[in-house]
Amino acid sequence: MKTIKILSVFGTRPEAVKMAPLAAELSRRSETENTVCVTAQHRQMLDGVLKQFGISADHDLDIMEPGQTLCKITTKILDGLGDVIKKTRPDLVLVHGDTTTAFTSALAAFYEQIPVGHVEAGLRTGNRYSPYPEEMNRSLLGRLADYHFAPTAKNAANLRREGIEKGIFVTGNTVIDAMKYTTGKNISYSRDDLRTVNFKSRRVITLTCHRRENYGKPMENIFGAIRDLVTTFDDIEVVYPVHMNPAVRGPASAMLGGIPRIHLTEPLEVTDMHKLMSESFMVMTDSGGLQEEAPALGKPVIVLRTETERPEAVAAGTAVVAGVRREDITRIAGILLTDAGEYDKMAKAVNPYGDGRASERIADCILYGFGLCDRMPAEFSI
Ligand code: UD1
Ligand code: UDP
Repeated sequence: MKTIKILSVFGTRPEAVKMAPLAAELSRRSETENTVCVTAQHRQMLDGVLKQFGISADHDLDIMEPGQTLCKITTKILDGLGDVIKKTRPDLVLVHGDTTTAFTSALAAFYEQIPVGHVEAGLRTGNRYSPYPEEMNRSLLGRLADYHFAPTAKNAANLRREGIEKGIFVTGNTVIDAMKYTTGKNISYSRDDLRTVNFKSRRVITLTCHRRENYGKPMENIFGAIRDLVTTFDDIEVVYPVHMNPAVRGPASAMLGGIPRIHLTEPLEVTDMHKLMSESFMVMTDSGGLQEEAPALGKPVIVLRTETERPEAVAAGTAVVAGVRREDITRIAGILLTDAGEYDKMAKAVNPYGDGRASERIADCILYGFGLCDRMPAEFSI
């Protein structure tokens, strides 16, 4: 029987988390032969995830340099991946999400006339500068890809509105598949600094903030709001695993370092991260992945951005877009910290993003696309 040769490419922490269950699923299938190429747009933060999911890369472009520009990331990947594709001639290249790794890898595949499957397709804010450059990366991927694996029906509708008609399939988000590997285990934290957090008698807030459009004033406002909250509420602790980007590390330690009840930590292993969120009172974040994971864990999310390409949790009532003004963030967080009724309304486990079977659907869909099975799987619906 024919085997479909797939090259899965990813490079940053969130892509690795969300591609790991799909790589596992493709390895289980006898009809697919999956090889993995990492760009290593992230190095340490990627390697941690690879280790946790037991993935060893077949190709490693190793492109990360501290603080490098988007142009540099793009050209290095085009060059390096172009060579890998030329040598290996896969039947399909799979990419994930909205990173520069994803967009550039799809472009490299297109230049070699290899079909592209886009996992997590169709999310949109409609604002080309927010998230920046991710909104544009993901939109351009919509033009480049042959298969569009959209997590939700809304995402599929976004693609159709842009005139994309073929190859769209609603799968659910593979992040929910990944959580089957990382949660529910009776494990203790792997790090000593997390053991010093007072989960028993204080309310813990998980905080992350790293987006480019939040650099500068918005990030100052966000950190200012966190300081206000810690001053006002003496029963809260904030845990902030700080992204390795120097553009984030500097302001984070300048504004939040050394303040009692604010824990700045190194990036966490995914199992620690999911455990931290599950033991937290709420999550405040500008991360995409956390907006999907927190609702699945029954935790309210305050989105530290002016808009979101993930409106499903907002519609479900578990996330609120707070914007990036200090007083707005403080006010909205203050409501959740003082009004038990409002908190309870938001703290419900809903899962608009998936049912844990997205990888299975994507694999089935690929088999169908290549003529190795005669029926499309049923789409994900809530
Ligand atoms: C990238 C993605 C963003 C995603 C984020 C996830 C793009 C344009 N952006 O943003 O969509 O939300 O990853 O975290 O693709 N660094 C390290 N070690 C690491 C990782 C990063 O030192 O393991 C530092 C380096 O100095 C690096 C900098 O962080 O240059 C920024 O990394 P980069 O991938 O350019 O952007 P992110 O902000 O991480
Ligand atoms: N994450 C992690 N350790 C951390 C912070 C995040 O394992 O210290 C995980 C998180 O649970 C999610 C993914 O990394 O699965 C999200 O990555 P990030 O916020 O960097 O990127 P985004 O989702 O915004 O693109």
